[in-house]
Amino acid sequence: MAPSKPFEICFVCLGNICRSPLAEGVFQSLVIDKGLENQIIIHSAGTGHWHVGAPPDARMQATARKKGIQLTSRAQQIQAGDIRRFDLVLAMDQSNLQAMEYLVSPEMAGKKLRLFRSFDPEADGDLDVPDPYYGGDAGFEHVFQIVHRTCPPILDFVKSQME
Ligand code: 4NP
Repeated sequence: MAPSKPFEICFVCLGNICRSPLAEGVFQSLVIDKGLENQIIIHSAGTGHWHVGAPPDARMQATARKKGIQLTSRAQQIQAGDIRRFDLVLAMDQSNLQAMEYLVSPEMAGKKLRLFRSFDPEADGDLDVPDPYYGGDAGFEHVFQIVHRTCPPILDFVKSQME
């Protein structure tokens, strides 16, 4: 029997240098931990084009490194074709979600797009991962905490979609 096509997930923020590369790295480490790396392919992207080709922000890399996670992505801008191709696209905040809703049909948006923090067990109604770019180190740590606790429920959801 031919192996089934891997599930493709993409994390999307504004610049693709802070929040979504962290989510990509944390989710990747979880997927490797569970031995699912051949079944789940992980991407990240930004809705903006300003940082295309750049590595993750040095402050985000330092925060991740302290937790044992290396961030190796290069920034890219999300395209309509990516949303059609991927199985699940998670927006880090509501403005990222809205920007992607303009790229595809309402039907495609409803099928593929979700807010990252809709999976956060501690979201308590706040569905945005705050943008840490213009703030201090505490903001990067806060983003790490949100991403770290939210990736396991996302993996549970992905596994349920693969069955
Ligand atoms: P990200 O953070 O969306 O989490 O990658 C930002 C990075 C860059 C900018 C804004 C947010 N910027 O304005 O350049």
